[in-house]
Amino acid sequence: MEEGRSQVADVIHEGRAKLYIELPPIISSRMPVFYNPHMVVNRDISLLVVFALMGEGALICDPMGASGVRSIRFLLEAKASKAIYNDINPRAVEEFKNLIKINGVDESKVEIYSEDASLLLRKLRHCDYVDIDPFGSPIPFLESAVLSVKRGGLLGVSATDTAVLSGTYPATCIRRYGSKPLLEAEFYHEIGIRILIKKVVEEGAKFDFALMPVFGYSYRHHFKVFFKKDIGAKRADKLMRDIGYIVYCSKCLYRSAVKCEDMETLCPVCGNDLLYAGPLWIGKIWNEELIMNIKKVVDKLPLSKETLKLLNRIEQEANKQTVGFYTLSAIGEKFKIENLPSLEKFLSLMEGVRTHFTGEGFRTTLDHRELLKRLHHSLR
Ligand SMILES: C[S@@+](CC[C@H](N)C(=O)[O-])C[C@H]1O[C@@H](n2cnc3c(N)ncnc32)[C@H](O)[C@@H]1O
Ligand SMILES: [Zn+2]
Repeated sequence: MEEGRSQVADVIHEGRAKLYIELPPIISSRMPVFYNPHMVVNRDISLLVVFALMGEGALICDPMGASGVRSIRFLLEAKASKAIYNDINPRAVEEFKNLIKINGVDESKVEIYSEDASLLLRKLRHCDYVDIDPFGSPIPFLESAVLSVKRGGLLGVSATDTAVLSGTYPATCIRRYGSKPLLEAEFYHEIGIRILIKKVVEEGAKFDFALMPVFGYSYRHHFKVFFKKDIGAKRADKLMRDIGYIVYCSKCLYRSAVKCEDMETLCPVCGNDLLYAGPLWIGKIWNEELIMNIKKVVDKLPLSKETLKLLNRIEQEANKQTVGFYTLSAIGEKFKIENLPSLEKFLSLMEGVRTHFTGEGFRTTLDHRELLKRLHHSLR
């Protein structure tokens, strides 16, 4: 038997890493050492974004490491120079030590801690990449995390409280993130990600850091956003100008991204009362240069099929970075259209691109009135 291998555990291959873990029928935070196979997408994309932006030799910090598979993969696949692994659960730390041996990782490239992630991050200032991946909300860790990343480095933030951010529990979202979500809008998940981005931007701005979002996505039950850190009050102020509100008409689907001072209350298209969400990030979610770099390096990493599928969607979506998208079901419901044209027809009719947020959604840069005109013509 290999060193460190448990007798009852399943062998799992993820990227170039090998793990021995006993997977329960339902993945939950009560597992002795947490490992969620569906989060391979989260780990794949963190490797890819860091590799695309920084190449080999990054110093990465995995402060909620759990099984430690992310740290191992960063060393084996993304050629990180060092991984700082931490988990508050001592059992996870023991398993991670086994994992290092099982995978033949050079021990001099790993630093291991077992303390509260915020306390550890407070002591670090020089990380090229920090990955915040908690159970639930990242809020408790954000302040320390923005300090630990070096200038020019990256911060990755995961959130699994997507129901809160997307509007199922609006009071919790307002209390936790300081923003009003909007479940009524068909792009409520996008609103959730934009609220998360706003929160991270604000956490940086209070220290005169500019944390620019460069890549974000929603997958199953989590959101993940990557931020590139710069320093300077003016840069932080500039970034804050992309914080605003979304106004939305639940009658005709009009939507608009506005600054606080330009808030409208009545729909300019149909006169209905407008709903709103925010404050939230109204700037871009994807940096086009990073998307190009990702395309160049994507073949160099052993990524899962799910990740490649998601990336493919996002590559198209990043060409039309609108605030909000349309869905077939919302159009069908609001305009009482029973036999809707297919998504492909909508894409050509509206000059649209698909969105990764939902298989029935599309983005278009057409003005809302123009969209309605084309919709009604197409139904004649
Ligand atoms: C969602 S899991 C992390 C999964 C891991 N990043 C991965 O990719 O597989 C969250 C981990 O955070 C750890 N944790 C919870 N609270 C913590 C804290 N305050 N400081 C450090 N680790 C913590 C838990 O023990 C758990 O292993
Ligand atoms: Zn309207």
